[in-house]
Amino acid sequence: MELPYAEPYKIKMVESIKRSTQEQRKQWIKEAYYNLFNLSSDKVFIDLLTDSGTGAMSDKQWGAMMEGDESYAGSRSFLKLKETIQFITGFEYVLPTHQGRAAENVLFSAMVKEGNIVPGNSHFDTTKGHIEFRKATAVDCTIDEAFNTTNLHPFKGNIDLKKLEKVLKENTKDNIPFIVVTITCNSSGGQPVSMQNIKEVSALCKSYKIPIIFDSARFAENAYFIKSREKEYRNHTIKEIAKEFFSYGDGMTMSSKKDGLVNMGGFIALNSEKVYKQCTVFTIMYEGFLTYGGMSGRDMAALAVGLDEATEFDYLESRIEQVGYLGKKLVEFNVPVQKPFGGHAIFIDANKFVPTIPRDEYRAQALAIELYIVGGIRSVEIGTVLADRDPFTRKNRYPELELVRLAIPRRTYSQNHMDYIAVVLKNIYDSREQAKSGYNIIDEAPIMRHFTVKFEKI
Ligand code: F0G
Repeated sequence: MELPYAEPYKIKMVESIKRSTQEQRKQWIKEAYYNLFNLSSDKVFIDLLTDSGTGAMSDKQWGAMMEGDESYAGSRSFLKLKETIQFITGFEYVLPTHQGRAAENVLFSAMVKEGNIVPGNSHFDTTKGHIEFRKATAVDCTIDEAFNTTNLHPFKGNIDLKKLEKVLKENTKDNIPFIVVTITCNSSGGQPVSMQNIKEVSALCKSYKIPIIFDSARFAENAYFIKSREKEYRNHTIKEIAKEFFSYGDGMTMSSKKDGLVNMGGFIALNSEKVYKQCTVFTIMYEGFLTYGGMSGRDMAALAVGLDEATEFDYLESRIEQVGYLGKKLVEFNVPVQKPFGGHAIFIDANKFVPTIPRDEYRAQALAIELYIVGGIRSVEIGTVLADRDPFTRKNRYPELELVRLAIPRRTYSQNHMDYIAVVLKNIYDSREQAKSGYNIIDEAPIMRHFTVKFEKI
């Protein structure tokens, strides 16, 4: 019999999480105006709001923290971090930042100008936000297969070369500062980009002399998918794969809160000294001096260790397979989920789960609320609430998919937690026909409404 995967670590410290009753949760979510962001964490049993900054550090990372060097300039911890990033990515120039969006802010301040076009694969919200804030346009060139939750394409994060070439042809080189390749692609469901696709995009971009920037938040998970799904890479190490795909690009922004295995942090890494020099001005203005950029020395020390651990096969196997384990359980229970399963999260297809709730009553949000009430599980809506209103007509934008994301924090929950989540969802699914109505919005911000929106139950 083939051996199942097993976590390459054991538990040294535990953190209590609180159980509560359905009656309590009904009251709490009502008091929170049915917005899961408004709940204090002690009212949540299993927190799947995000996998960002919510993972567990290792003993080696905690040990490294004790050796953090807090010097303002020339910190040893920065030098160690820089060496690690250079070793893993091959990029020469490194600037730390306090998180991923700060890396975007610094790099885009240097590179993106009003009127620019920035093609990519389903840009993450903050990436798109930082492009649009500069009055530039993000053009989505993801392959069409990504938007069909049952299509089993192994690399649904891939860029459609025809769509990309069209954008490159229709614009001048000066108007496209770079292409963003998001690995893995969060907005299309934690779906990977293949090495083959990265190579082809790189060749195309080289012929148009346009640089490639990787949005690398989950780059190690992407490397794991390449190793397990592209047969030429079966015998490569994760570090070899990562080094190879980075070699096809010109730089990266990183949210270290994901595949850096730390709770806060980010960085920019680049090939070009010229762009690096332009970025240094903005790093100093927005983040801090070049050798700490918004991070404590101890956090940089922990990140250097985290990047090394996150690019080890055994860790990644247990990480990705745990997410897959939850996915498989849900499929066994007939719960409609996006396939193939993503690297960091399982996405529930609310259009198929609760078609009985009208779309203008926010069916994915209604399902996320039910998941909280029934099981104390906090997820996040990726649907009409998140899609916000059209800035001109102020009408709701109805995206193709109404999803509920179950993001799994790294090295944090056990297989039993996964079983618990699956059974809660099964029970909700089995009584789904009773769900007939959802929620009305009673208060919302003009943009990014999902964080603070208030609902009432219909
Ligand atoms: N890029 C991607 C692909 C992301 O998923 C995120 C954050 C960022 C950039 C921004 O990084 O949060 O460190 O500023 N994603 C989180 C999530 C928030 O829940 O998916 P950050």
